[in-house]
Order: sequence, then C-alpha cells, then structure tokens
Amino acid sequence: MYKMGIFAAALIAVITGMVTFSPGIPISKAADIDAKKLYMTHCKTCHGEDGKPTDLGIGLEARDFTDAAWQAKATDEQIIKQINDGTPEKMMPFKEKLTPDEVKALVPVVRSFGKK
Ligand code: HEC
Repeated sequence: MYKMGIFAAALIAVITGMVTFSPGIPISKAADIDAKKLYMTHCKTCHGEDGKPTDLGIGLEARDFTDAAWQAKATDEQIIKQINDGTPEKMMPFKEKLTPDEVKALVPVVRSFGKK
C-alpha cells in the first residue's frame, strides 16, 4: 500500500506538472533531474534515441513510443509502473536503480516521442 501511495503521488505530480509548467522550462528542473540524460543512459539501448526501438528492442518486442495510438492509450501510471517493475525476460525493473522522482521524470520523455 505504501507503494501505491508513491504511484498515486507521482501520478498527481506528473499531471500537475504538465498543467503548471510552461514550455521552455524543463519539467525536471525542480528536482534537478536530467530526465533526457537518464533516458539516454538507461533506456536508449532498447527504446532508441528517438523512441523507435533499436534492433535489440525489436528483438524483445519493445513498443514504438512514436505510435500515436499507443500514446493515446497508455496512462502515465502504466508507464511509471512499467519502468518500476519491467517485464520478466524483456525489460529489467528500474525501481532499484532510479528514484521515484527519476522514474516520474521519464514519463514526459517517453511522451515527447509521440509529439512530432
Ligand atoms: C533491455 C531492453 C530495455 C531497456 C533497457 C528498457 N526497456 Fe522498456 N521495454 C522493453 C521491452 C522489451 C518492452 C516490452 C515489454 C512487454 O511487452 O511487456 C518494454 C516496455 C516499456 C514500456 C511499456 C510500453 C507498453 O507497451 O505499454 C515503457 C513505458 C518502457 N518500456 C519504458 C522504458 C524506460 C523509460 C526505460 C529506461 C528507464 C526502459 N524502458 C528501458 C525493453 C527495454
């Protein structure tokens, strides 16, 4: 239950962040997290620099983050859960590697690939 609280808090923070932050201000500014860099360090090997899966990602059946239909369907909560928990044999969980704030900060990065 403690964890659900974190997810809920993270979700609310993300939603509030999207509403309150004006363009040009990095969303991660307050927590001093460079989310784009986190993505390039931890996610790009499979999900690609531009959100399109790499050969490795395709082999593991990773999603194309530029897919508008998926972007419309996926909730921020699902994205946060996926990053935290991963999928056995496919994607490693990141909850031990990243702080809840870092995981939260990655959501807008994943979202950004859908807006082009
Ligand atoms: C080892 C390769 C690999 C790495 C590294 C990786 N992922 Fe994944 N990711 C996958 C695969 C494969 C799937 C599809 C899992 C499935 O089908 O359940 C996936 C699924 C996802 C999904 C869910 C997409 C959907 O179908 O709803 C999100 C969001 C995601 N990854 C984000 C990230 C983020 C953010 C990072 C970095 C912190 C990351 N991934 C790192 C391989 C990876």
